[in-house]
Amino acid sequence: MTEPLRVGVLGATGLAGQQVLAALERHPWFSVTAVGASHASAGKTLGDALREPSGGSRWFAEGRLDPSLLALRCLDDEALLAQPIDLLFSAVSKEVALQWEPRFADRVPVISTASAFRNEPDVPILIPGINDAHAEALHDQRRQRGWHGFIAPIPNCTTTGLAVSLKPLHDTFGVRTVVMTSLQAVSGAGRQDGVLALDVIDNVIPFIPDEEEKVERETKKILGHWQEPASFTVSCTCTRVNVRDGHLESVFVGTERPVDAAAASAAMDGFGVDGLRGLPSAPDRLLRVDPDPFRPQPRRDRDAGGGMTVTVGRLRDEPVLKGVKYVVLSHNTKLGAGKGAVLLAEWLTREGYTGRRPTRAAL
Ligand SMILES: NC(=O)c1ccc[n+]([C@@H]2O[C@H](COP(=O)([O-])OP(=O)(O)OC[C@H]3O[C@@H](n4cnc5c(N)ncnc54)[C@H](OP(=O)(O)O)[C@@H]3O)[C@@H](O)[C@H]2O)c1
Repeated sequence: MTEPLRVGVLGATGLAGQQVLAALERHPWFSVTAVGASHASAGKTLGDALREPSGGSRWFAEGRLDPSLLALRCLDDEALLAQPIDLLFSAVSKEVALQWEPRFADRVPVISTASAFRNEPDVPILIPGINDAHAEALHDQRRQRGWHGFIAPIPNCTTTGLAVSLKPLHDTFGVRTVVMTSLQAVSGAGRQDGVLALDVIDNVIPFIPDEEEKVERETKKILGHWQEPASFTVSCTCTRVNVRDGHLESVFVGTERPVDAAAASAAMDGFGVDGLRGLPSAPDRLLRVDPDPFRPQPRRDRDAGGGMTVTVGRLRDEPVLKGVKYVVLSHNTKLGAGKGAVLLAEWLTREGYTGRRPTRAAL
């Protein structure tokens, strides 16, 4: 690739969209040339759209955006669609994604953080290094829908840590049953439907609409075949807790073949992601096991591997389901949203799905 791919970001002002922008800063393969947001932001520069009427900043990701990005004017959906871009990152609600992602996919590849199309049989839910073979479905999707591009969603942010941690267990011992309780960060709800600080401070909210069904369905799709989910059962309770970033999950796993904590730890800690090597957003390790019984903790561990490494701890034998139990932590707006979407775009680009491969020198 001599010139970087021209990239559009839909939902650029939101929590996930901001993480996409942060992950694309000075990116060697992608250059953000257009940004889109709601009608309320359209016409403003990104810098102005990210400013509250009070003057406060709505920028939530780390660091500061390059002035050239802040000077980009936010476009409405129709205007963004008319831009000469090679690739779109979509970080909008399910409702907006349902309407607009197909229109973009008709023209260009769409990498999505939204759930709108994750249940479609020709739409794989991709985590690079975990279910790469599912990308095959994108060829059928393109053909059947007559699109030049495609829709490639990443999973729900709560599914990601669970699926990554289960992958080596499933490969080595066969997963039979999964019971998971999540303690999810406030940023996972986004700004639009966000959780009020007054509701969550000194509190735990014991219900997140649609979340449990998504995690149950998506985990089986990712670890099975895209048209035939894995046959194990998954049962979840999803809660919202007083944490800014980082979803913690307590996981109980029953396995087909005998396993104990030591064998599970060896399988998880030895889990490699050779296929991700050379991708600009890839962590050294997608999964690590921490033997410290007080870890993982959201505040201390969510930024492992630049927010792209999933941390497992408290790995123990599980006598009831006959398997193992553990706690897993993943960064919901980085691996689980913006940076995870960028990693997927990098992987799809290197594998030739976006039309242009990076040059050998860039790899
Ligand atoms: N937050 C997370 O941790 C996370 C993780 C994984 C996946 N996701 C998914 O990512 C998506 C975005 O979530 P979020 O947390 O970033 O939400 P958010 O903070 O509420 O941001 C929503 C974004 O959508 C824009 N928008 C609203 N209506 C629009 C329209 N009609 N056309 C174009 N843009 C429109 C908003 O622009 P304005 O600023 O102009 O209103 C804003 O940029 C959701 O599908 C969510 O489920 C989020």
